[in-house]
Amino acid sequence: MAGLASGTAQGTLPWSWYSDPEVLRRERERIFGHGWQYAGPAEESPAPSGRTERWGPLVFANTDAEARPLAEMLGPIPGHLAAAGVDVDLLRFRRRSEFELACNWKIAVENYLECYHCSVAHPGFSAVVDVSPDAYRLETDELTSSQFGPTKTGEGPVEGQFHWVWPTTKIYVLPGPPNLAAGPVTPLRPERSSGWLDYFFPEEVSDAEVEELLAFDDQVGLEDRSLVESVQAGVSSGLLDTGRLLPESERLLAHFQRLVREALA
Ligand SMILES: [Fe+2]
Repeated sequence: MAGLASGTAQGTLPWSWYSDPEVLRRERERIFGHGWQYAGPAEESPAPSGRTERWGPLVFANTDAEARPLAEMLGPIPGHLAAAGVDVDLLRFRRRSEFELACNWKIAVENYLECYHCSVAHPGFSAVVDVSPDAYRLETDELTSSQFGPTKTGEGPVEGQFHWVWPTTKIYVLPGPPNLAAGPVTPLRPERSSGWLDYFFPEEVSDAEVEELLAFDDQVGLEDRSLVESVQAGVSSGLLDTGRLLPESERLLAHFQRLVREALA
């Protein structure tokens, strides 16, 4: 692992931050009161209040009039999608999946930001995407991070790319026909979160291909639901001590937790 180390292992956030109403109050003020949030597909969304910007079919909203432009927030993500052969200007909205999870919003984000759990928790996903540490690449940028998983089966024109934009927006491409999924996670209560995922495809991708890809992703979502809800149960029990993050495979999670700490400091 020489050359991959990112310094000393970072401690996890205090577990109380995953259930304390006062922490959520500060997060709403300092994290959700600023920053770009994914608001919906350009074709469907009524214009959200405040400032909006568009990237391909995705509309982002910001309540902070002084915020930096969206392009600065997205960092390298548009370039990664172009390299994967996904032309965002050809994508059309096809379906939205909504969900509610019995966990703190940070647990939902953290689950998305590491794939250490994938080989055990997601057998179907791991049969298609190479999640071995040697093949699965991780990158962090200022306010984004990215995971890249080569397709094992050689199917489809694209590799799996799983991007994240501070604070909660997932933007990802699954192996298969050209596709893009995007969606936020929103805190409802300290131990409950909601969200949705919008799926986009070029017009020529058939409904059958869309259904197949969504069934694949819905299965991953079900597997993640049981994981995040059991993590929350463990955290809420108060029996856990704060831990250490794995320096390499949890590097994206450490980056996220650093941004949370800075925002709440
Ligand atoms: Fe997962």
